[in-house]
Amino acid sequence: MKDCAMIHIQASCASEKETSLKTDRFSSRDAAHSSLQVGLIGCGGFVRGNHLPNLAKEPGFVIRAICDLNAAVLAPLQSKYDPNYVTQDAEKLIRDPSIDLILIGTKPDARLPLIRAAVNAGKAVFVEKPLGTDWEETREILRIFRARPTPCMVGLNRPYSRIMQEVKRIFSRHRRGPTLISYRIVCEDILWPEHHRQTLRSGQSTILHEICHIFDLLNWLTDSLPETIYAVGGRSDNNLMTLTYPNETQATIISGGCGTEGFPKEQMEIFTNHGVIRMNEFVELNVAQIPGEEDQFFPVKFNPRGPLDGFTEASLRKALKAARQGLTPEQIAVGYYYDVRVWVDKGHREEIRWLRDCLLEKKPIPTNEVRGAQSVFLALKALESLKSGQVVPLDWTALMKL
Ligand SMILES: NC(=O)c1ccc[n+]([C@@H]2O[C@H](COP(=O)([O-])OP(=O)(O)OC[C@H]3O[C@@H](n4cnc5c(N)ncnc54)[C@H](O)[C@@H]3O)[C@@H](O)[C@H]2O)c1
Repeated sequence: MKDCAMIHIQASCASEKETSLKTDRFSSRDAAHSSLQVGLIGCGGFVRGNHLPNLAKEPGFVIRAICDLNAAVLAPLQSKYDPNYVTQDAEKLIRDPSIDLILIGTKPDARLPLIRAAVNAGKAVFVEKPLGTDWEETREILRIFRARPTPCMVGLNRPYSRIMQEVKRIFSRHRRGPTLISYRIVCEDILWPEHHRQTLRSGQSTILHEICHIFDLLNWLTDSLPETIYAVGGRSDNNLMTLTYPNETQATIISGGCGTEGFPKEQMEIFTNHGVIRMNEFVELNVAQIPGEEDQFFPVKFNPRGPLDGFTEASLRKALKAARQGLTPEQIAVGYYYDVRVWVDKGHREEIRWLRDCLLEKKPIPTNEVRGAQSVFLALKALESLKSGQVVPLDWTALMKL
């Protein structure tokens, strides 16, 4: 694994002293022989499809306890993952002295009291994105971690993916002069689970709930924070955003739900120093005019019909088109498709590996609470721009004023 510092932008860097304070709980462990005892709170569609199977497969984790308010999800998880207990009472996990790490997979509206209780109990915390839903709540979460330094990872997974690690390596080496970055992330909103669609109908925006990933990715890639942001488009989805970064670097994001799942969702193109780096849906990395670099291909993480290796963007596109055509009304009513289509590797398993290694080896966690807050801050400023129709200058000192 590469050094954590590589993935870590300056503004979110915990000091050496702070890091050692944060990881005291784990300092007596022998890293080679330790396991982290994990308690999960909130096991909805995403956690059941990603974090639970990843934690179960990854050495160094023991799934000790599983909690969800919905009793119906607990029985199958008990038989599948064999934790010591399942419960509807999150306090029970938080009080459990054998648990080292609490993974909070609820939606953001339930998180603040869970984070506060877990930190006060001295647990390490993994919390899904977005870290908060408004600035007051996000500041409160930062205050909690500042008052009692505790290891925290926010589920901003894309930088941990192998393809993005390669993009960053090549970009860092080749970057010079004006740089243009274009990120497209467009899917098919009619296939989302009803509760997600309801969230957007209630006035919330994918700019906060999903594009926080891309803001964090761009900050990490450019090793900087943007100076301005401008957004146009719909109130809840289907937006164009532009961000100006230092060093003659401009980024644009196209995000929406008006596309189709029968087509790759994400693509990034970087133009710098008269060369090009293209990330194509996490399977194909193309380069042009960058000495010493060739195109690379990356395995998918799940393929219901064959091997994980060997995909190109074109063959993936064919597989996605066929899977979309085969979806039944019953599957669409559920809104999760984890077992019926190819899933590309966006770094969820690597993220869990980094979490383990950072905790056991006492390294700073790259996507910590500060990075989580930075991505929320950018989302809120993009929404401000959407409302006002103006370019919004970004004053990052707001993050310091807790
Ligand atoms: N990182 C990623 O790529 C990614 C992708 C999808 C979703 N997510 C994030 O994951 C989170 C969950 O999304 P989801 O689609 O699984 O939502 P979901 O509604 O399906 O799951 C949330 C679960 O939390 C449970 N819950 C709520 N409050 C609880 C509490 N106090 N105690 C115990 N359980 C509680 C609910 O019963 C539900 O089962 C969201 O924040 C979402 O943004 C991340």
